[in-house]
Amino acid sequence: MLRVRHEVDGSPELLRTEEAPVPEAGAGELLVRVQAIGVTLPTVRRLRDSREPLPLGGEIAGRVVATGPGATGFATGDRVTGLCFTDAYAEYAVLPVAMASRVPDDATAVEAVALVRSGLVARGAHEAARVGPGESVLVTAAASGVGTLALQYAGAGGAGRVVAAVGNGAKAGFVRSLGADEVVLYRDLDRSGPYDAILDGVGGDLLPSAVRALATGGRLVAYGSGGGTVEAYELLLRGASVTGFQIRAIATGRPDLYARWRDDLWRRRAAGTLRAAVHAELPLTAAAHAHAVIEQRRNLGKVVLVP
Ligand SMILES: NC(=O)c1ccc[n+]([C@@H]2O[C@H](COP(=O)([O-])OP(=O)(O)OC[C@H]3O[C@@H](n4cnc5c(N)ncnc54)[C@H](OP(=O)(O)O)[C@@H]3O)[C@@H](O)[C@H]2O)c1
Repeated sequence: MLRVRHEVDGSPELLRTEEAPVPEAGAGELLVRVQAIGVTLPTVRRLRDSREPLPLGGEIAGRVVATGPGATGFATGDRVTGLCFTDAYAEYAVLPVAMASRVPDDATAVEAVALVRSGLVARGAHEAARVGPGESVLVTAAASGVGTLALQYAGAGGAGRVVAAVGNGAKAGFVRSLGADEVVLYRDLDRSGPYDAILDGVGGDLLPSAVRALATGGRLVAYGSGGGTVEAYELLLRGASVTGFQIRAIATGRPDLYARWRDDLWRRRAAGTLRAAVHAELPLTAAAHAHAVIEQRRNLGKVVLVP
């Protein structure tokens, strides 16, 4: 089978496609014929910043072809999606049962990897922001996999004004098509607002301007891997608050909530109120290109590899 491996050759990272043996499902694991792999900014960042080769984990979707000892609840032929911790960029991957969930018959594998994990992050960030009816909401990284779904959550949650923040004006039409009432560029953030809630997937240097754009009593949820520093005085001035959100904490600490949110994603998708936006479906051999698209901040929605 084909598999992509991460290598480090001194300067930039390399993603090399190679022939490898099909892995075996161990205890509590499923062997999946992979049909789609979601490429995410956290993975792109982790590999880029590493001085050592890393295992290529990620969200996959496909069909179960074998079950390991004690892997109950799934059978050969089932369509599943979930997070693999290693060698996800491959034609066959091993998926722990604890990470697996079913894909509805009418959904494609590409849709599943674009919808589930990103949708759960969007949902969680939205909940953490406690968005009330009629409030104004700013979503940064609005054209990202998570951002596209966060915009739709904000609209469906009864926000009065949904504003999409993006790095490039060419993304404006796209984010409007997903429900943004207005679009703002990062460089203009200081002149926009105030916002009752901000879902921030950028962080870093953008975080201080986002905090300054909060309304009195506003809430900012930092859910991105971009870090950043918050000046306490800016919070005091506005009686504002900043919180963080990570889906891993919900997956491990509140599996009941995780499952409920996941089922709700599919319900919304079936009702036509939530849709996954896919930027491109690329072959496994184009993994390096897929990472470059994200690195260069060019994607409109999720970047997906199709082995
Ligand atoms: N908390 C969690 O559990 C969790 C889980 C998964 C992802 N996330 C976060 O969600 C955010 C979006 O991730 P994703 O996988 O959905 O993104 P994605 O689909 O890979 O989209 C990448 C887009 O994010 C924006 N971006 C913001 N900061 C960036 C940076 N430093 N470098 C490159 N692009 C950047 C860019 O658009 P613009 O130029 O328009 O900003 C870029 O086009 C990330 O911050 C990620 O860390 C959080």
